[in-house]
Amino acid sequence: MSINTTNSNPSIFILHILSIFFIGFTIFQLFTAFCKLWRSKSTTTTPPPGRCGFPLIGETLAFLVAKKSKEGLYGFVKARRARYGNCFKTNIFQKTHVFMSSFEASKMILGDESAFTKTYIRSIVELLGENSVLCSSRDQHRIIRYHMSNLLHKDMLMTFIKLFDELTVEAQNKWTQKDSINVLEEAFKITFRAICKTLLSLDNESEQEILQKDVFLICEAMLGFPLRLPWTRYFKGLQARKRIMKTLGKIINERRKGIKKNGDFLQTMLMNDNHSSKGFLNNDQIQDNILTLIIAGQITTSSAIAWMVKYLDENREVQEKLRNLQLSLEKKLNCSREEFGYETLNEMTFASKVVKETLRMSTIVSWFPMLALKDIEIEGFHIKKGWIVNVDARYIHYDDTLYENPTMFNPSRFEKQEDPKPYSFLAFGTGGRTCLGMNLAKAMMMVFVHRLVTTYKWEVTDHDASLEKHSLFPRLRSGCPIKVTPISQSLQAN
Ligand code: HEM
Repeated sequence: MSINTTNSNPSIFILHILSIFFIGFTIFQLFTAFCKLWRSKSTTTTPPPGRCGFPLIGETLAFLVAKKSKEGLYGFVKARRARYGNCFKTNIFQKTHVFMSSFEASKMILGDESAFTKTYIRSIVELLGENSVLCSSRDQHRIIRYHMSNLLHKDMLMTFIKLFDELTVEAQNKWTQKDSINVLEEAFKITFRAICKTLLSLDNESEQEILQKDVFLICEAMLGFPLRLPWTRYFKGLQARKRIMKTLGKIINERRKGIKKNGDFLQTMLMNDNHSSKGFLNNDQIQDNILTLIIAGQITTSSAIAWMVKYLDENREVQEKLRNLQLSLEKKLNCSREEFGYETLNEMTFASKVVKETLRMSTIVSWFPMLALKDIEIEGFHIKKGWIVNVDARYIHYDDTLYENPTMFNPSRFEKQEDPKPYSFLAFGTGGRTCLGMNLAKAMMMVFVHRLVTTYKWEVTDHDASLEKHSLFPRLRSGCPIKVTPISQSLQAN
């Protein structure tokens, strides 16, 4: 006999259905709760240690105070790493920042494009412009970088080296008439003149001076508190940007009307308008990126040159070795001013190691900020989507498991170790964001040091290693003042 429950008792049937549904729902709830717990356990719930400071401002004030200290901005990072270890969390400019110092973390963060993307603080974006290759979104970045990579062309580099050499010789020839030479200021002027001429054919000194002052105001504003009040550095930086944009806009319009200056970088960018498969850059994009190149190229390189002169002063045997090699190379190549070029640079293998070691020790770009695109676990710490993870390049450059005796200035380390492990030498960044001016920068440093060691011996007259206030990059506050003696005289004296 079959039992027909539906017919026999409909209310019991509904009760059955409800209880099955209820049990199923409870099992589902328990299952999802279990999954959540399991997931959180397996991905680790440990957030990085550190303080997020006061509500709204976080640790921004401490960060801003650090940029006025002798140790510079990096002092902020150093103090927290000493307190919390290799990974810590903080809050700056209303964003959660994590700093990570290991080479393994560097590999995971800088090498994973699906999990991280480049980001800069808002004030830097506003000062350089949304279209700057440094700040643009991933897709835009590819196009802009493609157009700008003309700067890497060998022809452009050759012309640039010649010009930079001429300017260096011209400046260094005047040094004998001076009691003290401020290396940073001199290098700053030479790089600025060379870059302005190469980018825009701008060689009028008074126009260059006006531009230089405004560039300086922008640099000082980059880490300023983003308050648009007339007395703030930030506001002054924005005003300076407006002036520069106006000047660049005028120059571009003249060029578009046909008043041509062939062969400079701007002209190449404008010419690409017509026959580039990747479209063309509009005026705003060109303007933002010319400004970016001036800023990215000049302060970094001149700071690195000042560090190089300081390190060579403190390491006389390296300086002597370099001098002897450069003097014999000069003889061998009969290196006149006109002949200084790509091939000559290729012969300067020890000088290139001096440059590399300088860049390792000075680590001009101290850390790399990357935005987390998803929740991710690194070295046992849980990083949330939206946090900014900074790779601490300076710490990696001084890691004694990567560099033996890391505080010693030893260019010869790169003879044994020509190519340091990927992600362990970060002076010019890495991957698709590697410095576009890397070859230009290395060439400038090599030309400068070649002319210096083959013409003069020098004494640094102020050994203070304090850093410049308000500077995004570590720059010597003293500017590295030196007193020079021409080699010919010093040979006579010996
Ligand atoms: C010693 C001198 C220099 C150092 C240490 C240096 C360092 C760097 C570093 C570390 C980056 C990557 C930044 C990041 O990923 O956040 C970078 C990017 C860049 N640098 Fe340099 N740089 C130097 C000189 C120059 C010069 C001379 C120029 C051009 C005139 C230049 C133009 C650029 C540009 C355009 C970028 C952005 C590349 C991109 O995002 O695709 N740099 N530089």
